[in-house]
Amino acid sequence: MIDNISEDYINTNRNFPKTRLRRSRLKPWFRQLLAETQLSTDDLILPVFVHEGQEAQIPIPSMPGISRLSREQLLRTAEEAAKLGIPALAIFPVIPADKKSAQAEEAYKTTNLCNQAIRQIKKNIPEIGIICDVALDPYTTHGHDGLLIDNEIDNDQTIEILCRQAVAQAEAGADIVAPSDMMDGRVGAIRTSLDKAGFPNCAILSYAAKYASAFYGPFRQALGSAQSLGKKDKKSYQMNPTNSDEALHECALDVQEGADILMVKPGMPYLDILYRVKKTFLLPTFVYQVSGEYAMIQAAEQNGWGNSQALMFESLIAFKRAGADAILTYSALETAKHLKQR
Ligand code: PBG
Repeated sequence: MIDNISEDYINTNRNFPKTRLRRSRLKPWFRQLLAETQLSTDDLILPVFVHEGQEAQIPIPSMPGISRLSREQLLRTAEEAAKLGIPALAIFPVIPADKKSAQAEEAYKTTNLCNQAIRQIKKNIPEIGIICDVALDPYTTHGHDGLLIDNEIDNDQTIEILCRQAVAQAEAGADIVAPSDMMDGRVGAIRTSLDKAGFPNCAILSYAAKYASAFYGPFRQALGSAQSLGKKDKKSYQMNPTNSDEALHECALDVQEGADILMVKPGMPYLDILYRVKKTFLLPTFVYQVSGEYAMIQAAEQNGWGNSQALMFESLIAFKRAGADAILTYSALETAKHLKQR
C-alpha cells in the first residue's frame, strides 16, 4: 500500500526502505541473537516466610502460590532453591502475637525464629546465601519498623535495637543483613556493630530507596503486621512516592556509611529510580518486586486477564533493563524452573 504513504513522509525517512528494523524480528533465532538483556537464575533471590508451628504450609490468601512455611518445610524449599541454582534466600519470620512487644525484645534474641531458621539452613544447605531483614515490624505490637516513643518513631533508640538484631543474625550465620527500616544513620551504626562483634565479612544490603507504598499490603497480611499497624502508616520514615532526587540522597548516605549493595523498593512503579541509582553509583543494585506486584500478576492469571508466566517474565526483564543486578521475587522458584525449560 505504498500509495498511501505520503511523498513527504518518504522524503523525511530516506532510510526507508533500506532500513527495516523488522528484518531482525522475523525469526525466533534472530530475536534471541539480538536480545540486549538477559534474565538468569543467577539474578534471583527468593523471599520466604517462616512460622513457628508444625504445619508444613499455611497459604497466604493474597499471594496465590506462596505460603508461610514451617522450619522443616523451609529446609526443603531452600534445598529446592539451591538445586535450581538460586543463589540466595531472604528470610521473613512470622512472629506470634505473644512474642511481640512495644520494645521488640524478641528481635535480637539469639534463639528467635529467624535465627533458628538461619542456623538450620546453614547447617543443612550451606551453599545457599542467606539475607535477613533488619527492621522491627515483625516484632512490635504496633507494627512499626522502629520504636514508638511519645507517639513518634524514635530514630536513634531504634538504631540501638537494629544493631543488636543485625549482630544476632550475623552470629546465627546470615551472610547479608538488609536494613529495611529507613532510620537515618543505621547503615553506619550496623557496620560498626558488626565489625566490633567480629563479623567484618557480613555484608549490608541497604533498602536505601524504600517508598511508603500501598504495594506492601499482602506482605503485611502474611506477617500479621497489617493488623498491628491498623490505620497507621509508615510515611514518617519511608519515602514519599513523589520524590526521586531524594532517593539518590538516601543512597549516597548509605554508600558513605558502608552499604555494599543498594536496593530500590517496590520495583515496577519505581523503575526510573532503579535506573538513576544504578547509573549514578555504579554499585551492585538490587530491586524488590514486592508482594502487591506479585499479587497483581497472580490476580490477572486467576481472572483470565493475562498469563502469569509472561507477565512475570516481562516484569523481571524490565528490572534487568533498568539496571538491576539481582531481583527479590516471590516467583523465584517458578521463574528458575521456566528459565531451565527454555
Ligand atoms: C518490613 C518490610 C516490608 C517489606 C519488606 N520488609 C513491609 C513494610 O515496610 O511495611 C515488604 C515486602 C513486600 O511487600 O513484599 N520492614
